[in-house]
Amino acid sequence: MDIREEFLKFFESKNHQRVASAPLVPEDATLLFNNAGMVPFKSIFTGEVPTPSNPRATSCQTCLRAGGKHNDLENVGHTARHHTFFEMLGNFSFGDYFKEEVIDYSWEFITEVLELPVEKLWVTVHESDDEAEKLWQKHVPLERIMRLGDEDNFWSMGDTGPCGPCSEIFYDQGKEHFNGPEDKMGGEGDRFLEIWNLVFMQYEVKEKGGERIPLAKPSIDTGMGLERVVAIKEGALSNYGSSLFMPIIRKVEELIGKEYEYESGASYRVIADHIRTAVFLLSQGINFSNEGRGYVLRRILRRAVRHGYLLGFRKPFMYKLVDTLVSIMGKEYAYLSEKSDAVKEQIELEEARFFKTIESGIALFEDELENTKDVFSGEVAFKLYDTFGFPLDLTEDMLKSHNLKLDADKFDSLMNEQRTRAKAAWKGSGDADTHGDFKVLLENFGENTFVGYEFTSHSGEVQALLDADFKITGSLTEGEKGWVLLDITPFYAESGGQVGDTGELEGFAKVLDTKKFFGLNLSQIEVTKELKVSTVVDSHVDISRQEITKHHSATHLLHAVLFDVLGDHISQAGSLNEANRLRFDFSHPKALEHSELAEIEQRVNAIIARGIDAKTEVMDIDRARESGAKAQFGEKYGDDVRVVSFEDASIELCGGVHVGNTASIGSFIITKESGVSAGVRRIEAVVGRAAYEHFCEQRMLLKQVESEVKNLDVIAGINRLKSTIEELKVEVKEAQESAKVEITASEINGVAVVVEEYPNGDIKEKIDELKNQNDKLCAMLFQVKGDKVLIAAGVKDANAKAGDWIKQIAPILGGGGGGRPDFAQAGGKDKTKLPEAKEASLKFITEALS
Ligand code: ALA
Repeated sequence: MDIREEFLKFFESKNHQRVASAPLVPEDATLLFNNAGMVPFKSIFTGEVPTPSNPRATSCQTCLRAGGKHNDLENVGHTARHHTFFEMLGNFSFGDYFKEEVIDYSWEFITEVLELPVEKLWVTVHESDDEAEKLWQKHVPLERIMRLGDEDNFWSMGDTGPCGPCSEIFYDQGKEHFNGPEDKMGGEGDRFLEIWNLVFMQYEVKEKGGERIPLAKPSIDTGMGLERVVAIKEGALSNYGSSLFMPIIRKVEELIGKEYEYESGASYRVIADHIRTAVFLLSQGINFSNEGRGYVLRRILRRAVRHGYLLGFRKPFMYKLVDTLVSIMGKEYAYLSEKSDAVKEQIELEEARFFKTIESGIALFEDELENTKDVFSGEVAFKLYDTFGFPLDLTEDMLKSHNLKLDADKFDSLMNEQRTRAKAAWKGSGDADTHGDFKVLLENFGENTFVGYEFTSHSGEVQALLDADFKITGSLTEGEKGWVLLDITPFYAESGGQVGDTGELEGFAKVLDTKKFFGLNLSQIEVTKELKVSTVVDSHVDISRQEITKHHSATHLLHAVLFDVLGDHISQAGSLNEANRLRFDFSHPKALEHSELAEIEQRVNAIIARGIDAKTEVMDIDRARESGAKAQFGEKYGDDVRVVSFEDASIELCGGVHVGNTASIGSFIITKESGVSAGVRRIEAVVGRAAYEHFCEQRMLLKQVESEVKNLDVIAGINRLKSTIEELKVEVKEAQESAKVEITASEINGVAVVVEEYPNGDIKEKIDELKNQNDKLCAMLFQVKGDKVLIAAGVKDANAKAGDWIKQIAPILGGGGGGRPDFAQAGGKDKTKLPEAKEASLKFITEALS
């Protein structure tokens, strides 16, 4: 049974509108991730945007609970039913039906479509909800209806947002399978499995800790966990035993060559859960990073790799699970297979990086082991956890084989300190909610009309003005900044990487920027003459728009050429199109070679030179995909999409503004290639006017170099400088040589004796040289270096020992040293004693040889 499809069909038959899953990153960014099916409809529940013409909806929403209010991360692997990523089936009523209908619908679906046995079903209601209890009695005997308090039966999206009491449906998996103390209704065990949560949306909380304000229209939000229901229908006692997860676990078994068992299999389950989360996030354009959502992704992948390590993996393996996941879910989520090559590469690189840290962690562990008698340091265990990403269970496991204990108290206290710090750091990533007066604008005027594809000047009426805090105002006076809603606007609102338009409202205001808010195209203005609502104004888009469109069209050509030159694993990871530059991020495992960059630049310029007309067409999304249009996941397209193409050179889904013909782009010049994060590269480039300016800067630079080398031909000038340097090097060497002092030896009893200062050159070498020149030798050389004095002594075939000699002399210079009978060296600190030292040296050696 295809439960997703059955669910959506069932609610369609009850007049619900089927809505596709929204991306994991919520549209209005008030949450870190979509954590429930209702999130995409949040503003409808609160009344911020008008209720759609059909007030009933149904969806299968991809959700992620790994941070914020709803966080299941720590439970994953250790229970049969928790996940970070999961799919939530839901039906929604926006002020339409309420408790009675939702209870009846859910009962009908569970008993008639899913055909779950009635005697295994239990329900809970909020302790204050007599009405729900009564309504349930139609279907379930009172002894299987339980009343629970706020903790279990009151649901809210986050610290703020819509909320209400709820009623949950449970499935009893049987005490023959689960009979621990927590396997009771309301307990933590797995026996009674919550499968569906019906929320009676009645309130909204506007600020954290604030009061519950009744919603104008009570609504319904429900959530059924797809994974749990699939497991029940397949007779699996754990979600992980179902067809959604088991193929992944089997693949892990195959890769490591060890069999999965439920009791000891937590690591397999963690891996199976986390690969889903990682692949969905990466496919939706979230990259590994050290902050925000990308950091959650990194932590999740590393947690999985650590569990892989416990299983025995020593090199990247997670990426090998991607194909298995695509085979399970690729049909429902086509973007998974489209992105799978790029995703595999990103995962492999990230894994490889972490495997390196694991090895360093082990080195630290082994060092510490040497200092450990009975109890292993809690500080080091914490460092392993915090810096090297070692889970405590891995450290404990390693200690077990050495019969050692861990200072767990110290570890816990450090962990608690860190948790407090982390909590403080998470503040602000939560549920901010500043939606100004957009709701009123949408209700009164609806979305305004954008005519900027065809016009750069147009007249329009000021429908509304907002102050800087987005509050409605009747007028804005000279010098004030605010936002204007025009009924017809030529200004493009920032999106798809293209910056928002600037310009002017002739005679009234400068336009500083243009953005979209809940579908409203608003321009930010600075008023030069008082502007009132209802005024008709002439709007002019700034000339810089032309340059923006050139960069945007060039980005499309670049995207297409990257595919051709580097391969179809390329996947767009972000872009920016401004008047004076473009930036394009894409997945690719390594830095581009010079030759690749040259080829890319050359090919883009070749397309530009063909002078191809741009064609824009509006078509339905399926036809667009068939025609091969490149689309970015997560961009919000309606049923009909806009396709921008340049003959055979490029075809993309895009809402942006483009040149009429490629020739007007002028030249395309790559200015920089760099890495953004593991597996993601960035190309920066300039076209049009900016390319000309870039050329002028380069020419200016060249002129400066020319004038520095005083030569019209820079290369000849530089060569001349180079040969001058070579000549000077030779001169310096000669000067050094000639500065070397000629040393002459005196003779005592047939032995050549040298006691001299040697100001330049290597004194050790000089001693060797003297040894070569004389059959019998006693030589001591001194060299002043700053305040210090170097001393070297050499003896050849004579009745004296260099080591003894130098030991007598070095102390005179305030130093020490020694050495072998044939060679010794030392250092002194007091160069003023040099004459004294030389005299003593000569005296010593004369006596020795006499
Ligand atoms: N929004 C409700 C939940 O997530 C249905 O449980």
